[in-house]
Amino acid sequence: MSTSRRYVVIGAGAVGALLSAQLQLAGIGTVLVARGRNLEAIRAGGVRVRRPRVTDVVHVPVVGGPRELTLTPDDVLVLATKTQDAETVLAEWAWLPVEGGGAGAALGADLPILTFQNGLATEDLALRRFRRVYGVTIGVAASHLVPGEVVSPSEPVIGLAWLGRYPDRRDDAQAGYTADLVRAGYDVRSVADISAWKARKLLGNVGNGLGVLAGTRAEKDAAREILVAEARAVYAAAGIREPADPAPEWGRALTVEEVPGHVGGRHSTWQSFARGAVDERGVSSEVDHLNGEIVRLGRMHGVATPVNERLQRLLGAQARDREEPETHTVAELVAASLPDALVP
Ligand SMILES: NC(=O)c1ccc[n+]([C@@H]2O[C@H](COP(=O)([O-])OP(=O)(O)OC[C@H]3O[C@@H](n4cnc5c(N)ncnc54)[C@H](OP(=O)(O)O)[C@@H]3O)[C@@H](O)[C@H]2O)c1
Repeated sequence: MSTSRRYVVIGAGAVGALLSAQLQLAGIGTVLVARGRNLEAIRAGGVRVRRPRVTDVVHVPVVGGPRELTLTPDDVLVLATKTQDAETVLAEWAWLPVEGGGAGAALGADLPILTFQNGLATEDLALRRFRRVYGVTIGVAASHLVPGEVVSPSEPVIGLAWLGRYPDRRDDAQAGYTADLVRAGYDVRSVADISAWKARKLLGNVGNGLGVLAGTRAEKDAAREILVAEARAVYAAAGIREPADPAPEWGRALTVEEVPGHVGGRHSTWQSFARGAVDERGVSSEVDHLNGEIVRLGRMHGVATPVNERLQRLLGAQARDREEPETHTVAELVAASLPDALVP
């Protein structure tokens, strides 16, 4: 079924540029919002999507910001930046006029917005301005290291996602967004408890930062277990639930193949550090909203989260000093101790 919906995808990185390209390939309306060298590259040559057997060049409509676009009542906003950039984008887009929207959708804040971030923060940030917020939890093995380019090593399913209205419920509109994402190549489930799915995903993401440290697989597995155990302890204290459904069998649902010339298996946090080491703007990492979210909840509920906090501090200092991935080690993370005053 075709609709007149247009997805305005804000943030042209691994998740956003790939999503906009997939929507365009599926014949679904989209416009991508990019900036800097990424914008220049996409304007000049489209989004290059490198896949295991082919590279697609997808000419998505692209703009450099809200001044280059007129919003219409059929638009669905997609927040595809990292969490640390969400507030700026939400403030920028909420109060734009919507052409022909009348009283029903007069401002950007009246349009639906899909929030794709890892962590637990962006739905509440969005809800301060937007009435219709839909959280999306996504699992993709995508990578964005070069302007204008994303690597998508999964076929035929591009990524797995869970989509639901926030605060937690299911509404009629989300079936349409889910269907569009399915047409675009994602395996998506419409859910009534998106917060629980975001919480479960965060249990995976608290280990992202380990990818930036040097260490053996066994060392990282052991450290990950501690990070997750701390996260589960704060969830229990805070009354945060995981979904009743069993965890997905990621390996079966999402195949990850080799893409020629690409080193796979590196999370978005690793990508941020790798890009930041060579970008004059430095590193902008999401760690404060991943491990930092667990630390915040621990402080709120009186639960110690020393290894999450050490990882956050280690990577915060590494970002400050613009050190490349693998400058620090998992052994340093596990051996270091926090000053007593920092443990609640
Ligand atoms: N990568 C993955 O495989 C993956 C998987 C699951 C979930 N996620 C989650 O999805 C979210 C997006 O991650 P990502 O990996 O796609 O991040 P990313 O590759 O860093 O892309 C984010 C993009 O947003 C752009 N941006 C930031 N502020 C902007 C603004 N004000 N206006 C326009 N563009 C702006 C950034 O531009 P600059 O480059 O110029 O800063 C960047 O191109 C994160 O919450 C992440 O945790 C990622």
